[in-house]
Amino acid sequence: MEKLSVVEQRRRACLRSGDEDHTEVGKAYAEYVRRSQKQAANRLDEIAMEQAYEQLLLQMEQESSRSYSVNGIRRSTAASRRHAGRLLGLRKQEEAMAAIDPDAFYVLHARQILQDINDERDGRLVKVPYLQRAMKQISDSLSAGIPVYLVGHLGSGKTQLALEASQEQMQHRLRMSLLQKSLLAWRDAHPGASRSDELAWFCQVYPDIEKQVQNTPCHPYFISGSHNLTAQDMFAEKTLKLAHAGSTESYGEQLNGLLNDFEQFLKANKERLDAMNPQQQMELMLAGWKTYSSMYINENSGFGTVVEKVEKEVLKALKEGRPIIIDEINTIAMPNLIALNDILQHHAGQSAYITGIGTVKIADGFCLIGTGNLSTGTVSYEGTNVLNPAFQSRFTTIAYNYVPQSTEGTLAQQKDPGQNELFRLVMEHLCNDDGSLDLPVPSLSIDALWRFAQLARMSQLIFEGRSSVSENGDVPVLNEAVLSIRSIIHVLDTWNFGEEMDLSMALWYGFLSSVTNNDDRNLLLSLAVRYGFFADNDGWHVPARSKGEAGLTMEDIRTAAYSHEIAPLEHLSRQDVVTLLFGKGPARKSLPDEFAGKIEIDEDVDMQAKDLMAQDGKIRDLEHGAAILDSLGMQK
Ligand SMILES: Nc1ncnc2c1ncn2[C@@H]1O[C@H](COP(=O)(O)OP(=O)(O)OP(=O)(O)O)[C@@H](O)[C@H]1O
Ligand SMILES: [Mg+2]
Repeated sequence: MEKLSVVEQRRRACLRSGDEDHTEVGKAYAEYVRRSQKQAANRLDEIAMEQAYEQLLLQMEQESSRSYSVNGIRRSTAASRRHAGRLLGLRKQEEAMAAIDPDAFYVLHARQILQDINDERDGRLVKVPYLQRAMKQISDSLSAGIPVYLVGHLGSGKTQLALEASQEQMQHRLRMSLLQKSLLAWRDAHPGASRSDELAWFCQVYPDIEKQVQNTPCHPYFISGSHNLTAQDMFAEKTLKLAHAGSTESYGEQLNGLLNDFEQFLKANKERLDAMNPQQQMELMLAGWKTYSSMYINENSGFGTVVEKVEKEVLKALKEGRPIIIDEINTIAMPNLIALNDILQHHAGQSAYITGIGTVKIADGFCLIGTGNLSTGTVSYEGTNVLNPAFQSRFTTIAYNYVPQSTEGTLAQQKDPGQNELFRLVMEHLCNDDGSLDLPVPSLSIDALWRFAQLARMSQLIFEGRSSVSENGDVPVLNEAVLSIRSIIHVLDTWNFGEEMDLSMALWYGFLSSVTNNDDRNLLLSLAVRYGFFADNDGWHVPARSKGEAGLTMEDIRTAAYSHEIAPLEHLSRQDVVTLLFGKGPARKSLPDEFAGKIEIDEDVDMQAKDLMAQDGKIRDLEHGAAILDSLGMQK
């Protein structure tokens, strides 16, 4: 009898190499896991579909409670509570599946990885939990008709988040209105249908409607704030235009009009004409026609200047019921921003007054998101101002900064690897389209990438002013430079899987060499050393520099000529990537009868991140984050 852990290890090795298990039991076991994953996937799909269904019913219920209320405020009703309760139940079911069923755990996370890779390739943000929470907050606020102000440090993804959240808002409205229309029509045609009939019908129509939603372009309006931006730039610009005062009708239509006019003239003067002889009649008619046509020509051949009003983004968004994003809103001068006040405190359906324009009805679907960098004691963003509190109070202010990541311990020591969202972004940037990953000497690369994510996070904490004070009271400070996701991606692309350089060198060329603030560069370098980069035995030596000293250059830190050895890429399967990013998941506790007497279920069968890295003895325990800060403080 074979141990389950051994058969499972073989299955994973086969996934990596693409071979098949050569034993009868191994083959049957792999086949069973595939089947079981498929079943889990189907069950998860069913849950997701029912969630979409309940979401629709909840929304419909909330809207109807809003429409019955006097002041447009929605009230919780027995029905809306029932749907909210069902939604909660479904979410719990999903969580429970992932907590006890190893196949559901794998399917759920593998799908997440594929979705993330897809999002990143399409230039969208990876939906890590930190971002999802912000998205939910934004959508709740916008749905309640309250504008959102997103603040945070440079390169955290605020602008992109504002774009995606408003797109999501547009898509959500479209989705709900399409679904609601079909549902009401279906209910009319099927009176007395049960909930399960309705759910079955919903499962059939939902995919098509979702496709329609995805294929409908949803673009918010967007303006970039600057100090010079005026109220006119936001609402309407008046320009003088040289206009040709002429008819827009075709020549034929114009001639017909002229003839009709002339006929009227003849009819009105019929008696007089009849009193004349034919010769006189003819002369008068000819003269009359000539007068008519020259008058017409005069009227239509003039040129002149006219005042033209060109509607700008905010006004267009208001009238068309679309979201508007005002990027870097806190760079706009306060007197100009005040022009937005009346809009900010009115909801769709109401009218708002705009200076120079008048009253405008706010169309359904209008919403506003502003973004801004917030200067702190140590970091100052040139050109930004603090918003007037009265103005800011009209917004829901949401702080959006860098994603969570532990700065202590090795990857193998993480209790819940899924909480390290920055490491997830780093690894997914490197993944292949199918969620697998090719790395040079994985045991070393994974550890280096983990330390890189930790280093980046530590630089972010220091930059945000959130790092803890070291024992001797020194607080490390970064004034201008930080390893934001933008810089992280640049370093990873420079590293390029170690084709021409190792990660230390990539850190230098992809980031540190372009840090112009000397103190920042020196601090970041010593921080990198603490996280295991620029090691002495790799030909580096980073001397200590105190505040105000010159910035370290390549010549200062390199002790030997640089030579790099290219290691072959080794393949890790999607299953391995799931383990690395989300942990080992629940253990397999049972097997079907076909394996009775063939496979023995042993304790803790699933592989952990450390198994992927254990071959190499060089992996050292990291110093604690606090110790790192202490040593940095002492260096100064
Ligand atoms: N969750 C994420 N997934 C993928 N990429 C991300 C994520 N968060 C941030 N990024 C990357 O960071 C970049 C910076 O985003 P963005 O320009 O929106 O930041 P910002 O906060 O508006 O910066 P700034 O304050 O400098 O204007 C994005 O283009 C993206 O490449
Ligand atoms: Mg921005």
